[in-house]
Parts: sequence; C-alpha cells; structure tokens
Amino acid sequence: MRKSPLLNKITEYLQQNNLGFHTPGHQQGKGCSTIFKKTIAKNMLRTDLTEIPGLDNLKNPVGCIKESQDLAAELYRAKKTFFLVNGSTVGLQAAILAVNKPGEKIGISRQSHISVINGLVLSGGQPVVCPVAINYTWGIPLGTLPNEVSLFIEHNAEIKSLILTQPSYQGIGGNVFEINSIIAEKGITIISDEAHGAHLYFQNKLPLSAQQSKSDIVINSTHKTLGALTQASMLHVNRKALIKPVQRALDILQTTSPSYLLMASLDSVQDQMSREGEQLVQQTWELAEILRSHVRELKGYRILQDEIVEPWYKDPGKIVISAAELGLTGWDLARILQEKHKIIVEQSDYFYVLLLITVGHCKNDIVKVAEALKDICKYEGKKKLSVLNIPGKLYEEKPHLELTPRETFLKAKAEIPINESLGRIASEPLTIYPPGIPLLWPGEIINNQHLEYIQWARKSKLPIHGISAKGVISVIIEE
Ligand SMILES: Cc1ncc(COP(=O)(O)O)c(C=O)c1O
Repeated sequence: MRKSPLLNKITEYLQQNNLGFHTPGHQQGKGCSTIFKKTIAKNMLRTDLTEIPGLDNLKNPVGCIKESQDLAAELYRAKKTFFLVNGSTVGLQAAILAVNKPGEKIGISRQSHISVINGLVLSGGQPVVCPVAINYTWGIPLGTLPNEVSLFIEHNAEIKSLILTQPSYQGIGGNVFEINSIIAEKGITIISDEAHGAHLYFQNKLPLSAQQSKSDIVINSTHKTLGALTQASMLHVNRKALIKPVQRALDILQTTSPSYLLMASLDSVQDQMSREGEQLVQQTWELAEILRSHVRELKGYRILQDEIVEPWYKDPGKIVISAAELGLTGWDLARILQEKHKIIVEQSDYFYVLLLITVGHCKNDIVKVAEALKDICKYEGKKKLSVLNIPGKLYEEKPHLELTPRETFLKAKAEIPINESLGRIASEPLTIYPPGIPLLWPGEIINNQHLEYIQWARKSKLPIHGISAKGVISVIIEE
C-alpha cells in the first residue's frame, strides 16, 4: 500500500483541534477576507489555475494581476508593489541581486534572516555586519538604534546598501524613521526586511513601519501577520530607479508557474486592508492587550513587552511570555500549552514563548490561552529558573568572515565531526529555526564560542539546521 505521511500528519493535526498563535496570520482561514473564503477556499481545487486567457501573467502583468499589484501599491503608497510567491525569502534575494554587485560591500544586520545571507551567494557581494543590541535575560536581539546605525555607517563608508531587519522576529525595533533618514542622508540604499511587519503600515501610534518611512525597498511576509496564504508576500519599491532592476531579479528568481491561490490571497489582502486595515490592526492589538492584562494578574509570569522601553518600540501584536519564575523553560511552557491545552505557540526558547495575535484571532481565543496560563501557574509551580547568558550569545559576535558567501558556496567542502571543526571555515550557515538567524555564517571561522553554543543547542534539542543528527558539519577544504 502506498503511503502519504505528510497528509496523514495533517489529518492527525486537524483532528486534534488545536488553537494556534503562530503564522500564517489567517489562523486556519479565520482571518481571510469573506470574498477569499467564498471564491477560493470553498473551491480550492477548481481555482488552482494557471495563465489561461484572462488571468494575466505574473512575469509580464497587463491585466488583473497588474491591476491588483497597482491597488496594493496604492494602498501601501509604494512606487511599485510586486507579488511574491516564494515568501519574503525571494523578495530579499531579488532586492539584493538588484542593488549589490560582486565584490561590493553591503551592510547587513547581525540579526539577518538566513535568506539574506543566501542572497549574497547570488549577488557575490561582501557582507559587512551591523551589530545588534541584545537583551541577555530574554536571550533575544533587539535591533540597532539610530545612533548605532550612524556609527556603523561612519566606520564603513564604502557600503552602498544596507539591509536591516525592521522589526525583529519578536516585533522590536528602534525608530525606523530616524534610522532611515540617517541612511538616506549618506546616499546608501536601504532595504528593509519587514517580514514581520506587513500590518504595521495600518497604524500611526508607533515609528515601526518601514513602509511608512519609505525605505527604498521593503519586503513584507503578508502571510505571517495578515490574511494571505503561506508563501504569499509583497515587495514594495519606493524609489523609481530600482523598479526595473528588482523586476529583472524577480524574473530570474520567481517560478514561471506562480500559484493563483497565493496571488489571489494577496489580492484579497490588499482589498481587505484597504477597507478595514486600521480597524483590524487596532482590534488585534486590543486583543493582545487583553491577554497581557490577564497575564499580569497571574503570578510567575513575565512579559517581554512590559520590560521594553523607549528608545525601543514594540509591536503590541506579539506577546513574549516567560514562566521562568515558575521554574519552567519556554520549551516546557510550549509543551504544556500544547499537550494539556492544545495551544500551539509561534516559537519557544530557553526563557520564553512567543505568541502572535493576528487578524485571525477573536476574544474567545484570548480567553482560552489566558485560562491555560492560569491553570499552568496554579499547577506547574516549581522553583525559579536561572537566567542563562548563552541564548543571547547567538547574536553577540560579529562573524569573522574569511570568505564571502559566494566564495564559500563555490569552494570544495568536506564533512567532519563538529568536535574536530575548531579553526575550520564553515561552508554552510548554521541556524536555529525559528528564528532562522545564523549562529555560524558561511565563510566564518569556527571558534570556541560557536562550539559551546552548538553543544548547548544540541543538548537542549533545539532545531538546528546545518549540522547532522550525528554531529557532522560541512567545512571548506583549504589549499
Ligand atoms: C526576519 C525574517 N526575514 C525573512 C524571512 C523569510 O520570510 P518568508 O518565510 O516569507 O520567506 C523570515 C522568516 O521567518 C524572517 O524571520
């Protein structure tokens, strides 16, 4: 008998009836627009179409796809918006290919997602790493404040473009308007990885929206926080001269068979957000605040957002909770939430769990998670968990790169046990996923701090990409 293991697992998952606080933002359809549910969701197989007459062509749009992209550009007040069918990953890589030449220096944040570093394999550029501030208690990167960006540019006058993650995975960042004006003043092209902030455009309370601040190129994972299907993202170009190079790069990188389901979901989001964007984001943030106020009343929990103060800003739709005072790691908390309460979080780490509140949530969902947390703080109480310095160390070091990502990609490689790798050059990125920020960059010399972190991560059973289950790692064969 033939087997379909993925289908079986999905069936099993659906039977469990879990409540998710993770991406995609539509939360099993609840946040999708009514018209999307009616037209697409109900007729999924009939609407899985291709470039038949009347349905336009993403590679050279002149009809309904062009119209939809134009409406999205109008909504986000961009010079041009492109629909992406391979997530922000392809948008970041196209943006890099469009602005960065082989050997040319490009600033990239220490908290860059792996897709950015992989983008440099394509462009051949030389990364210069922009450091980030770290909160060691929580073990998370916060981002880079305007004065630090200013210093970074001063010390690296030769960079022509800079990619920053705005905001971070946990929804934190400095004043993006100030940061971008410092960068623009120097004539540097700014690319904002706003994968986690497609919704931030629809509010005026926080200086956190890269698209509001008109970075030259902004990439949004519309699927993460809004109602698009997984993989469906948008790239906004805000400088006319960059439209053609970005378009050409996307032509190279995107499939010639883009999914109409994904594109239709982007069309539905542009329509939904143009009608009720502010209201939806406001409602989402109110729900998140209700949850935070419940959690504040419970003993044993801490909320990261309550500890973040200006000059940092925080996306209120993200809730990062620690139960360290109950003696629970974030992994324990995530496991109990799942096993006992059927609640699935976005991410967990040693000290915390991350929950996303999105357009797909309602008051009932908030009540359920609040009750679960109440139950856990009553029954699971143990002795306090100590703060560990090690998770924050992931973001501490500025990688010392011997080779660029492209040079590394092209070199001969060998597979060796991790405990023999000290001093060797890593050939592949090593990431904990999520959040997908490399611990080791391709082309970086492996040092003791990496090995210490890897040992800890393996002991803690973290999802490490770039090292085999048996502890084998790929390194460059040096001549
Ligand atoms: C900061 C950041 N940038 C880019 C990406 C890639 O986005 P996508 O999954 O839409 O390809 C991610 C994915 O998690 C991310 O966290």
